[in-house]
Parts: sequence; structure tokens; C-alpha cells
Amino acid sequence: MGRSKVFVAKSVSDRVIEYISKYCDCEVWDNEKSIPRDVLIEKMKDVDGLIITPGIKVDKELLNNSPKLKVVSNMAVGYDNFDISAMKEKGIIGTNTPNILDDSVADLIFALVLSTARRVAEMDRYVRANKWKASDEKELFGIDVHHKTMGIIGMGRIGEAVAKRARLGFDMNVMYYNRHRKLEVEEKLDIKYAGLETILKKSDFVVLMTPLTKETYRLMDHHEFETMKDTGIFINASRGQTVNEMALIGALKNGDIRAAGLDVFENEPIKKDNPLLDLENVVLLPHLGSATEETRFNMAMMCAESVIKVLQGEEVKNIIPEFK
Ligand code: GLV
Repeated sequence: MGRSKVFVAKSVSDRVIEYISKYCDCEVWDNEKSIPRDVLIEKMKDVDGLIITPGIKVDKELLNNSPKLKVVSNMAVGYDNFDISAMKEKGIIGTNTPNILDDSVADLIFALVLSTARRVAEMDRYVRANKWKASDEKELFGIDVHHKTMGIIGMGRIGEAVAKRARLGFDMNVMYYNRHRKLEVEEKLDIKYAGLETILKKSDFVVLMTPLTKETYRLMDHHEFETMKDTGIFINASRGQTVNEMALIGALKNGDIRAAGLDVFENEPIKKDNPLLDLENVVLLPHLGSATEETRFNMAMMCAESVIKVLQGEEVKNIIPEFK
């Protein structure tokens, strides 16, 4: 029997490729541009293990063109790009990269919290545009983060890492909403469970950190933004589809909320004519939650290890719960 083949659909460190190559043949899409769908589909004819990022949909079309595929490893914690039932039907296992990115994503969420509250990106544009005058300081005021109230929607591991920073670093009052209460986290961090409406009404910062599912699709819509304080700041680092983006744009323009910090969008990359690009009271990032050198290396390595383990018939830690 010949060696298995692994295809890595994104450029990764040479060390990751060297590791895979010890066990399997390995091909990489080593290109700045995302792999075109038809090129990926053509590659899949002899691929046993696939490593991808969330921009690639693992759907029936891809699976029907992957006669040898046994495992797909998502270089991400979210896996809404997987058609789980179609994968299960074909006996293909899915893995992701939980735990190792929690702190990096929580750090980025705090970067958005601080830059929206203190208008960091806007002020950077202001200084560069040579607009700085000694007299206009008051117009440049931001709002405090410390001692304010943060409402976190989604208390998974990343939500918990955000709550920890808010409580211990910024003395914030934290409440959260989640499908299930997390009593041990409530106790450990001294945070409170609350209903969604209460979170929206009372929070100075609403942080959305929930996976994208049928239930969370457009969880933030017109009503939710109207319910937020008009001084409230909205942060999203989950998935763009958890928000009705037009409703958010309306809320930012009408003053229903003060500002938003966004790492994710309904369409990525964002379209040139997206009205968010014209607003001063938003901070926009190109989906960078886990994008540090260290964490992205660890994620790629975790995917490589998972794929090799599955192909060698060994037990894997990071199987997505639905495949267990
Ligand atoms: C990134 O978006 C992730 O899900 O890890």
C-alpha cells in the first residue's frame, strides 16, 4: 500500500510540512491567494487528509469529489464551514483547534474593546492627517473601560478568557448569557448569569463570542441594537452571520449605539462598497482573532498531528464533538 496523501490548502510553516512529510506525502497550496474552488476539487481526487481554514466549505460537492478522504482538519475553532451530516454519512472525521487559541482571541477582543472606547484607530488617522491642534482635546475624549459593565454572549473557553481579562485586568462588572449556566466560572471569576435582554440593556460593552449555528444566525438584529444603551459598544469576533450587518450599520449611524469593533463580517473579505468602511465609529479588522505567529503555528501543527493520527488509526484529541 502506498503512502497516504495530505493536502494543506493554506501556506504554513516549513516545520509543519516537514512533520507531515515524515508520515505521508504532502502537498501545500503555498500561495498568498486563497485556493480556487475548482483547483481544490481537482486536487481532492487522491487526497486522504485535508487541512483547511474556515473560508473553505466542506460540502457535498467537495466530498463527492474526494473518493479517498478520511479526515478534514479545520485550522480554526469554529467549524460552521463543515456539512457535518454529509461528512458523517461518508465516514469522514472532522477536527478543529480548540484551547490553544483562546488567549490570543481574547487579547484581540480586548484590543477591539480598548480601540473602540479610546478611539485608537480613529485618533491614529487623525494624527496622520495632520489634524492635531492643542485646543480640540475635548472632542477627542473616549470613554473608560475600567469599572464598566461588560456583557458576554457565549461563555465558552474564549468567553471565559475575555471575562478573566475584564474582571482581573480592568475591574469590570461582567455578566454573561449562554445556553447553559457555567456555575464554576461564575464562582471562579465572580461573574453573573443574565438573560439576553438584560445583557443588552445594562452592558456598556456587549461582546459576542458564540459559534454560528441555526440558533445564533443574526442573533443581533434591529431589536437587539435598539435595546442596547446608546452609549453601548458592540464587539464581534465570532462569525459575521451572527449579526444582521445592515441593522448594525443603521444603529451606528442613528446613534442607537456608540461604536463597534468587528473582526468578522457577513462577507469576507469585506466588499468595497460596504457602508461600514465610511463610518468613523467602527474599528474593522480582517478576521485576525487567532492570528499571532505563535498561535497560528500551534494551530497548524495541531491540525497536522490530528490528520496523521487519524490516518494512522490512532486516537485523536481534537475530534469535533459531533464526530465522537
Ligand atoms: C476563527 O475564526 C476560528 O474559528 O478559529
